Amino acid sequence: MSDRNHPMADGAASVLVAGGAGYIGSHVVHRLRAAGRCPVVVDSLVTGHRDAVPAAVPFLEADVGDRSRVAEFIARHRVRAVVHLAALSRVGESVEAPRRYYQGNLVASLALLETVLDAGVPAFVFSSTAAVYGSPEGTPIPESHPTRPINPYGETKLAIERALEAYHLAYGLRYAALRYFNAAGAEASAGLGERHEPETHLIPLVLDVALGLRPAVTIHGADYDTPDGTCVRDYIHVCDLADAHLAALVHLESGGGSGAFNLGTGRGYSVQEVVEAARRVTGHPIPVSHGPRRAGDPSTLVASPGLAGERLGFYARRSGLDVIVRDAWAFHRARGERYAG
Ligand SMILES: NC(=O)c1ccc[n+]([C@@H]2O[C@H](COP(=O)([O-])OP(=O)(O)OC[C@H]3O[C@@H](n4cnc5c(N)ncnc54)[C@H](O)[C@@H]3O)[C@@H](O)[C@H]2O)c1
Repeated sequence: MSDRNHPMADGAASVLVAGGAGYIGSHVVHRLRAAGRCPVVVDSLVTGHRDAVPAAVPFLEADVGDRSRVAEFIARHRVRAVVHLAALSRVGESVEAPRRYYQGNLVASLALLETVLDAGVPAFVFSSTAAVYGSPEGTPIPESHPTRPINPYGETKLAIERALEAYHLAYGLRYAALRYFNAAGAEASAGLGERHEPETHLIPLVLDVALGLRPAVTIHGADYDTPDGTCVRDYIHVCDLADAHLAALVHLESGGGSGAFNLGTGRGYSVQEVVEAARRVTGHPIPVSHGPRRAGDPSTLVASPGLAGERLGFYARRSGLDVIVRDAWAFHRARGERYAG
């Protein structure tokens, strides 16, 4: 780790980005730097990539639950706010291996909160998820919708939201729990994009077909109660998500109220529409095959996004479907060319 060119040399306070080597975290780091902030990153690299974090950003390879090393890092960099994205996030895996999720997401996050409270860090932004709502009663989904997760992944995220609320009331920790809907897109000009292994998200899977890395994309269920029978999701551009984290930090730092905020667009697109957008953007026919429904997949998940606009002043600006697919394709194609080279 090199601190030489880091703005901390001037004594500025830092923002700890936990999970900053991951897909969304690396975009948050990029956005914070563009805004003149001083991000420092802790990441175990369990799913992240060291090369997604610029060399000039102080980096600690550690689990967020490693209290002594994280505490030392927080003190050394005078951290005054935390953005916590570090988690395992595959819903199916959380059903098959719940111990990993309760340990990796819940126990480790509670340990990070202990470290944060002991260090007197006043502001905490948490990556939550639409999975806290479970099977929604209707659409779009407001924050006041009952929270009834239907898998261990959603349970662990909700448990941390509840701890944050209690710690806010008891200890004054200011927090924003950001309930993302479907993150997608890329900041290809910065070399940043989605690189999950194995990949489970629709847009990179579809683009793998366009790159010739997969023969076809499987549509899981075409008999849902939606206009074309395929599931409808609310896709938000990862750069919009990064903007929302900055907006949440500014909100908390200026004394704004704590709570949970949906991050979505309020507009849903079906799996079929995503495939058609990818055909338009890539010019590839993208064959599809049809498979059975997946257990626990609600037909429609669309956010009511108004609260984040009202309280955080956040509005999604880059989240049109074609823009998302175009930006993801720019990243994917560049990676595909690197592999081919
Ligand atoms: N991608 C989405 O659509 C989506 C939707 C809702 C919520 N989220 C949440 O957003 C966050 C980021 O998601 P992502 O898609 O960027 O995933 P990702 O796997 O790309 O990033 C997670 C990062 O956290 C690190 N990490 C995981 N557990 C850790 C631990 N215990 N200690 C230290 N580092 C750890 C990983 O190495 C990785 O770099 C997660 O909390 C996820 O649950 C993502």
